[in-house]
Amino acid sequence: MAESAGPAKIIDGKIYAERLHAQVTAEVARLKAEHGLTPGLAVVLVGDDPASQIYVRSKGEQSKAAGMHSATHRLAEQTTQAELLGLVAALNADPAIHGILVQLPLPKHLDERAAIAAIDPAKDVDGLTMINAGRLASGLPGLYPCTPVGCMVLLRETIGDLTGLRAVVVGRSMLVGRPVAQLLIQADCTVTVAHSRTRDLPAVCREADILVAAVGRPRMIRGDWIKPGAAVIDVGINRVPFDDPVKAAQGKTKVVGDVHFKEAAKVAAWITPAPGGVGLMTVAVLLQNTVTAAKQSVGLA
Ligand code: GUN
Repeated sequence: MAESAGPAKIIDGKIYAERLHAQVTAEVARLKAEHGLTPGLAVVLVGDDPASQIYVRSKGEQSKAAGMHSATHRLAEQTTQAELLGLVAALNADPAIHGILVQLPLPKHLDERAAIAAIDPAKDVDGLTMINAGRLASGLPGLYPCTPVGCMVLLRETIGDLTGLRAVVVGRSMLVGRPVAQLLIQADCTVTVAHSRTRDLPAVCREADILVAAVGRPRMIRGDWIKPGAAVIDVGINRVPFDDPVKAAQGKTKVVGDVHFKEAAKVAAWITPAPGGVGLMTVAVLLQNTVTAAKQSVGLA
């Protein structure tokens, strides 16, 4: 990349998320007017995890704001696997629903893999079923996971063509690390997937023109791990005590990413803040996936 080293330009997720939301809203209006088709999204939340409640409320509000049909199913913590699978089966069969998302993590007694596997791949707007994960890994079109697609939108909007760049993904989760690595391969990057067992992780990260941090460890990636001029995408959402000891003593917390933002911003050319970066893209991509699923259900895509 021809970019100079820091101070980094901030990649403002709000701008790109609002733009995508506006595109989705316009497409929903067109589908309603021209085809009598209202894309419908069902979100299933089991239990009362506070972070999940916030995410699920946002998904419901934003799908309604885009003109879509929105159904949020809040199930009790003690819901059984059979009850959860029964709801997923009903949503699979519901013609008003084109997208189904089961919010993760599920309570410990429930089997996440079985719940995801029960979703009709045509309605799997989270891109987590074996069919969609396999399509992504095979380089075929499909419904792809939302946060990874959001990362790619931000990278393309800021650095444009990614061909030949060295990308390092830190984290190998099904939700982010693995799928974002696949998308970077599709974009002709040379991709390394690093994780908690990687030897000399700082040296591996220093090779990256594109560094995607998705490990879930607050501020783990330091400034001297970053190649001057790199683009840094921080997927982390970690709740930590305030730096100010008085506020920390009051039990106040704040959200930080996986990257030590202050240090990294001195070295990188581009960086996402966390919060305010890629997290904002996730819901916009979810709505876009739901529109795609709705169009595919009637042969329009
Ligand atoms: N929990 C945190 N992020 C996600 C996501 O993208 N999809 C689902 N289903 N659960 C999540």
